[in-house]
Amino acid sequence: MLGNFTYCNPTKLYFGKNALDNLGSELEKYGRNVLLVYGGGSIKKNGIYDKVVDVLRKCGKNIAEDAGVMPNPTVEKLREGIQRARAAKADFILAVGGGSVCDYAKAVSISVNCDEDPWDKYFVRWEEPDCRIIPVGCVLTMVGTGSEMNGGSVITNHAEKMKVGHVFGEEVFPKFSVLDPEFTFTLPKYQMVSGIYDIFNHICEQYFSGDDDNTSDYISEGLMRSVVHSSRIAVRNPEDYEARSNIMWTATWALNTLVAKGKTTDWEVHMLGQAVGAHTDATHGMTLAAVSLPYYRLIMPYGLKKFVRFAHNVWDVDCAGKTDEQIAREGLDAMENWMREIGLVMNITDLGANADMIDGLVKSTLIMQGGYKVLTEDDVRKIFAESL
Ligand code: NZQ
Ligand code: ZN
Repeated sequence: MLGNFTYCNPTKLYFGKNALDNLGSELEKYGRNVLLVYGGGSIKKNGIYDKVVDVLRKCGKNIAEDAGVMPNPTVEKLREGIQRARAAKADFILAVGGGSVCDYAKAVSISVNCDEDPWDKYFVRWEEPDCRIIPVGCVLTMVGTGSEMNGGSVITNHAEKMKVGHVFGEEVFPKFSVLDPEFTFTLPKYQMVSGIYDIFNHICEQYFSGDDDNTSDYISEGLMRSVVHSSRIAVRNPEDYEARSNIMWTATWALNTLVAKGKTTDWEVHMLGQAVGAHTDATHGMTLAAVSLPYYRLIMPYGLKKFVRFAHNVWDVDCAGKTDEQIAREGLDAMENWMREIGLVMNITDLGANADMIDGLVKSTLIMQGGYKVLTEDDVRKIFAESL
């Protein structure tokens, strides 16, 4: 049964070739002082920076820059960004980049007018903002996180070996996002496939929980089939517009709150992956890929019915004459084959982890309650050991 829910997604999307043509009319709705936030410089190499600055100038904006947002943005960078936004008296924050830049922009937006330390308030005590929030808009250049249409923000604290996400409410969602699939053509293959697995796993995290008959799970199966199909084309030809645009759109729907409506969700793979990220600073989607199979194989007996459905509806496993265990196992084997085929990193050793880190990884892993098995400390240890 679908549980009760409220659905509202306030982010306006501009999708497709030349979607940036809509940036000017959106910017006109906001004040003159714009904080332009971006990462390590890819947008300067591929020309997106020049295009965005041109629009900002034509709109008569005062531009202050906050560059150098790193993948897996840190709390130190966040504190620096707050000072920059205050110095610029920012009326609007324009994030140009991937999930890291968008997440960071949201974190700055809710901290500029807040006197408390953002790490303690938002990522330790998980409080909601109670100050004036600076509006944020995104121009997306990397696909995977869904940050362009959600309230998520993930910040890393290396000193405390914690990488923590907070899913904020509607008021923190970007006001608008510009999604031009061609802006993603310059992504290195490693980032592209990492993003593809991030998308797939977001859907899994929401699908592998509960056994109710609900529309969300049917939508999830369609999204999973779409991303698997398009990923195979994109890996062969990264400039296939049809595949890249489908992947981009799937990423948005995978984590814009829709497929979680009316059901429970898991998110344990993200907790395991974020622990790996906190210790190694590895690429987000790869951390998920490296821990996924040991996790899903461990919980499979506890959610057998759903794993059978997954095998049949997502991977077209032929069920005739097989036990449920066999069908479920074949589904996960098919998933593994696809993961290897597109070139994902399949173990945490290749991401810089080693056996000596396991105690620390276990400590950094938050335990979720919504999956088919609430993990014990021993389960977590076993998953990391099998992921080495
Ligand atoms: O920094 P630059 O030079 O721009 O390079 C970036 C970065 O090195 C590069 N890149 C981005 N667009 C490019 C490009 N290179 C060439 N051409 C382009 N068009 O890609 C690298 C990775 O970018 P990043 O933004 O870090 O990737 P992603 O979008 O995967 O974001 C990862 C962050 O999002 C968080 C993750 O934990 C991680 O911190 N997440 C956010 C979520 C949310 N808001 O809901 C949910 C996710 O599960 C995830 O946890
Ligand atoms: Zn993710």
